[in-house]
Amino acid sequence: MKNLSDTIKHDDWKTEKHVPTTEILSQECENNMVSLRVSVGKEVPHPNTNDHHIPWIKLFFLPDDSSFPVEVGSYRFTSPEADSSAVESTPSVSIQLHLPGSGTLMALSYCNLHGLWQSQVRVDLS
Ligand SMILES: [Fe+2]
Repeated sequence: MKNLSDTIKHDDWKTEKHVPTTEILSQECENNMVSLRVSVGKEVPHPNTNDHHIPWIKLFFLPDDSSFPVEVGSYRFTSPEADSSAVESTPSVSIQLHLPGSGTLMALSYCNLHGLWQSQVRVDLS
């Protein structure tokens, strides 16, 4: 029997279009503020159709002094044909965080055809 975690593909698939990218846009160490963008398909665009799309990204933060990740956000995207408004969403979100200190941001994305994908980025606020 497999664990769900065994199915998650990681950021060592560097050329894959599914791996979420977390970009630190700005960082203010004096007040632990970090602005970032999390997206899927930054280098190689991912399809965005009803049959093949990224319905969600989740973001977690693991403080250096903890073994338990904290859920930062959960972001849903609709596929182009999901409604009749002709509004398309792309899997990209910008977020500003006030963090308790240094740690690791972990992004988890889901493709309706290709499953779960994860990446992480270090945030050093010292
Ligand atoms: Fe996919």
